[in-house]
Amino acid sequence: MSVLRAPRKILSNVIYSSLKEHRRFGGVVPEIASRAHLEASLPCLKAALKRSGITLGDIDLIAVTQGPGLMGSLLVGLSAAKSLSFALGKPLVGVDHVMAHAHSGSLADPTLKFPFVSLVVSGGHTLLLCMDSPSRVSVLGQTLDDAAGEAFDKVAKILGLGYPGGPEIDRLAKGQNTAHYFFSRPILSKDSLDFSFSGIKTAVFYRVLELKKKRALTLTVKKEIAAGFQEAVCDVLVQKALLAVKRCRLRSLVVGGGVSANTRLASKLRAAARTMGVEVIFPSPGLTQDNAAMIASLGAALFKEGKKDGLDLPGYARFHERGK
Ligand code: KG4
Ligand code: ZN
Repeated sequence: MSVLRAPRKILSNVIYSSLKEHRRFGGVVPEIASRAHLEASLPCLKAALKRSGITLGDIDLIAVTQGPGLMGSLLVGLSAAKSLSFALGKPLVGVDHVMAHAHSGSLADPTLKFPFVSLVVSGGHTLLLCMDSPSRVSVLGQTLDDAAGEAFDKVAKILGLGYPGGPEIDRLAKGQNTAHYFFSRPILSKDSLDFSFSGIKTAVFYRVLELKKKRALTLTVKKEIAAGFQEAVCDVLVQKALLAVKRCRLRSLVVGGGVSANTRLASKLRAAARTMGVEVIFPSPGLTQDNAAMIASLGAALFKEGKKDGLDLPGYARFHERGK
């Protein structure tokens, strides 16, 4: 939970993660996530208020994640936000969490102006968006199968690494030869802004199977496979994101979502964008993963545009269900 002085002064941003409880299952368990949300909501609210130095009575607007995500967890957040809105008599605004990732660069760069292109790379989504305003957004491209973060997590599992896999692969791949294990780049077609990452994951799977049979999957080999895989994913993300910026005739690219913390993606994207005179904005540290400050920020921007929701605000599991 977060307290934000609109438009972008973060007074507090409390992130509670139940990751530890999911780790031994190798992925997120919905039931555990819902219970953890329930247990964490009041302590998080108290901590966010305490750190911000304000009281509940000072709050002017309640913003809440409407989706996409796990319905059980979303309902806990929605119920808490609706109760606050009702009890305090303050307006409520539902926010799409993927749009909030796409918008999160505005918290890092106060000079950022619409329109801009956003690349959202998270565990559940990989999207290229043209952002004309907080509410006017068009989808330029999206993944046809696995999301980028999902591919990182699955490849980490194949390599026997921990969950979530993205940070592990990022760490292992540092300074490694990226060409020793080469994986083809799924570009689809020259003009396509869509993505497909399931093929690289399958290629890694068969490569690892072969190496296991030969008893040749050493730590050094694992590191080189991690580096080769990461390089392939980053090459595709960089190429398509810059193609989108060029096609929209824009000069700013905002990157958001968990995978935007990837150090290789940041260095490759910054270098390639520089040659095109494109400015790349990454979220501030701590704001790449799911967080409430980005929800509050987009909520405030939408409210300014006139959005206001009722206590019947529904949740939705998938991105394409938004606005229905
Ligand atoms: O945005 P996020 O916190 O949650 C979703 O909305 O999905 O993203 C989580 C994803 C996970 O798949 C995780 O492995 C990935 O972000 N991730 C990374 C890195 N840090 C987190 N992927 C690559 N490199 C990283 N450094
Ligand atoms: Zn997210």
